[in-house]
Amino acid sequence: MEVEDPLRVSVFRRAHFNAAHRLYNPVWSDEKNQNIFGNCANPNYHGHNYELEVKITGIVDPETGYLIDLKVLKDIIYEEVEKRFDHKNLNLDTVEFKNLNPTAEHICFVIWKILRKKLEQKLELKVRLYETPRNYVEFPA
Ligand code: NI
Repeated sequence: MEVEDPLRVSVFRRAHFNAAHRLYNPVWSDEKNQNIFGNCANPNYHGHNYELEVKITGIVDPETGYLIDLKVLKDIIYEEVEKRFDHKNLNLDTVEFKNLNPTAEHICFVIWKILRKKLEQKLELKVRLYETPRNYVEFPA
C-alpha cells in the first residue's frame, strides 16, 4: 500500500517524574507570597507527580518509516529530564530553578528548551506537562 508522500505525522512519548517545589517570589513579602500562591508557598515544600507528554511532528523518513526512533526519544527524555528532575527538590537541587519560580508554566518551558537542543531542527517539538491530572500546561502555546 502506498502512503502519502510526504507523510506528515506526530508521535508522542510519555514520561513521569516526582518532584518537590515551592512557589515563591523573593521580591515579595512572605505575606504577599502567601496571598498569591497559597499553600504552594508553604516554606517546607510539597510534591507533585508530574506527567510529561512530548509531541514530535514532521515528515516520515520513507526508508525507515519512522519520524523518530521512539527508543532514541525515550532515552533523550530519560537522560535529560527524568534523571535531572526525578526525586529532586526543584528549588534547591536544580540549577534551572535556582532563580526561576518552578511553576508548571516554567517547568514546561524549561523542559522544552532542554529537549529542543537534543532534537534535529527539522522536527517540531511540543511539550505538555501535567502537574495534576486536571492541571496542565503546553508549550509552545
Ligand atoms: Ni505545587
